[in-house]
Amino acid sequence: MEHMIIRPARYEDLEAMSGLLQELFTMEKDFSPDPVKQRSGLKQLLTSPTAIIFAAEYDGEIVGMCTVQKVISTAEGGMSGLLEDLIVTPRCRDCGIGQSLILFAEKWAIKQDLVRLQLLAEADNTAALRFYDRAGWQKTGLICRRKMLNTNSQLY
Ligand SMILES: CC(C)(COP(=O)(O)OP(=O)(O)OC[C@H]1O[C@@H](n2cnc3c(N)ncnc32)[C@H](O)[C@@H]1OP(=O)(O)O)[C@@H](O)C(=O)NCCC(=O)NCCS
Repeated sequence: MEHMIIRPARYEDLEAMSGLLQELFTMEKDFSPDPVKQRSGLKQLLTSPTAIIFAAEYDGEIVGMCTVQKVISTAEGGMSGLLEDLIVTPRCRDCGIGQSLILFAEKWAIKQDLVRLQLLAEADNTAALRFYDRAGWQKTGLICRRKMLNTNSQLY
């Protein structure tokens, strides 16, 4: 992949990145693809001072992406980062693009003085879990719960 570069995403990458997220959220059972929401989320990330989007560009085309958002960790007594939205378009997989995206995210996080990165993955996404094993990401015993917040939410 000689002509592949990883760089911070720009506004003009929006449509391509939204397309990648349609693929990701079609694949992940807990999410639903919605281009309007994905474009909105991406715009918010592009302008956020506490987040970054990395885009993988190959021959002028966006073929992969990942995002990192900073959060305060009381466990670490400092900032950690949530890595999300990692996807490489199917025809470009197994060529090292995913590894490069993760590496750029990790280097950025170190430069930003983040002390840890974390991510969520589907328990049955064996390809991604193997990929994270290889990249040196530890397993945890944590699971994810969520509550959607709307006017009908049951509040305690
Ligand atoms: C997970 C994902 C992002 C990995 O991206 P990728 O670009 O295929 O990853 P890489 O090419 O860096 O690594 C994949 C494999 O190819 C191998 N590889 C890396 N560079 C290689 C190269 N130059 N030539 C051949 N194989 C290579 C790696 O050893 C790795 O092996 P593994 O399957 O044992 O981990 C990609 O499969 C994907 O988009 N999946 C669907 C979305 C998804 O599951 N996202 C994660 C949500 S939590």
